[in-house]
Amino acid sequence: MDKLQIIGGRLLAGEVRVSGAKNAALPIMCASLLTDQPLALDNVPSLMDVRTMSKLLAQMGVEVGDQEGGRVQLQAANIANPVAGYELVKTMRASVLVLGPLLARCGRAKVSLPGGCAIGARPVDQHVRGLQAMGAEITVEQGYMHATAKRLRGARIAMDLVTVTGTENLMLAACLAEGTTLLENAAREPEVVDLAHCLRAMGAKIEGDGSQAIRIQGVNALSGARHRVMPDRIETGTYLAAVAAAGGKVRLSAAAPETVAATIQALREAGAKISCRADMIEIEMDGRPGSVSVTTAPYPGFPTDMQAQLMAMNCVARGKAEITETIFENRFMHALELQRLGADISIQGNTAVVQGVARLQGASVMATDLRASASLVVAGLVAQGETLIDRIYHLDRGYEALERKLAGLGAKIARVR
Ligand code: UD1
Repeated sequence: MDKLQIIGGRLLAGEVRVSGAKNAALPIMCASLLTDQPLALDNVPSLMDVRTMSKLLAQMGVEVGDQEGGRVQLQAANIANPVAGYELVKTMRASVLVLGPLLARCGRAKVSLPGGCAIGARPVDQHVRGLQAMGAEITVEQGYMHATAKRLRGARIAMDLVTVTGTENLMLAACLAEGTTLLENAAREPEVVDLAHCLRAMGAKIEGDGSQAIRIQGVNALSGARHRVMPDRIETGTYLAAVAAAGGKVRLSAAAPETVAATIQALREAGAKISCRADMIEIEMDGRPGSVSVTTAPYPGFPTDMQAQLMAMNCVARGKAEITETIFENRFMHALELQRLGADISIQGNTAVVQGVARLQGASVMATDLRASASLVVAGLVAQGETLIDRIYHLDRGYEALERKLAGLGAKIARVR
């Protein structure tokens, strides 16, 4: 199995191009299920999760073109098999995003209960409840959701908690429902807004995306469209956190600075000089960062997907930070691995108390989930000597060309067997 070898202690310098957002590309690919016309996408990142989604859609009968230079075309002329099997779904939780569009288009779907990152229980009850409110019948048998509906009906759905893919699934379904759907307590994440942009280009009638109340007026059919996937704000934040931890001066291009505001604010508090203009972010960090306490929250709060990377930076900061995770239980698995590098972290319930140390020492560590792996990379870039990260398939799920991009910034990093 591949490992990532990092020799830490070098400053980062140069320019890196941000890729398209994984968490926008996945739901947008599922939007192709809503029409028999082609959906052409640009800026799709080359990632394992995107390949998994392509395979999942292809199994249903979607024609998925080759991905070339970020461009992919999908056409669901006929959906012969509205089924998402366990083998693929277990590797990627976002597979559940096919449920809403399949029901809306085919009137039936069989979707395995999801797996994905082992970060807490992560149920899908809000997805199911919302679709039931729209008239779907859903039963769970032998690990599969069996859903049927003659034609979904618009409904007023107040979600019990803010769920990103839940909001997206219901938004996708509501586009072809009869009548108007009102989603209350909806997720405001930029990826939800990007999906709405794509759906509108396909002819959907959606208002209020980006706010807590999204109104979708169902239409009888959607058309094909061309859409450019937004920049990845978590990848952006990860490179920014890496520079804040390791020091140096880096320019990120093809970014969307307005979507990274909470992370930029935290890193400025740590002492990084950050300037933004149009699609560019420049960061400069001199010396050790200051500690920064954060509490994760739904957008526009500090993202849970940046929590691990900020913890890694805090490991080498001056002072003590408290990091509180409110979105997922069990999302501190990286703390144990960071301790192997010499970090001083104690976990108290859903808060990690990080006392910064002057230096980390390289060691062998194991990636446990996608963003946890990213935190180990950030720590490895700062640690003295060699850090060897095992199970990097987690990283390959969500970071395009990570080692090439970091090597381009002067890091000593290589993929080894
Ligand atoms: C998405 C992101 C993921 C990010 C997360 C939170 C994608 C593909 N993934 O995941 O990277 O970490 O948002 O920003 O976009 N919940 C329920 N019932 C449900 C649905 C969710 O209880 O039906 C709970 C979850 O267990 C969790 C919280 O709600 O505690 C938020 O989860 P959610 O926003 O749904 O995360 P995902 O959409 O799976």
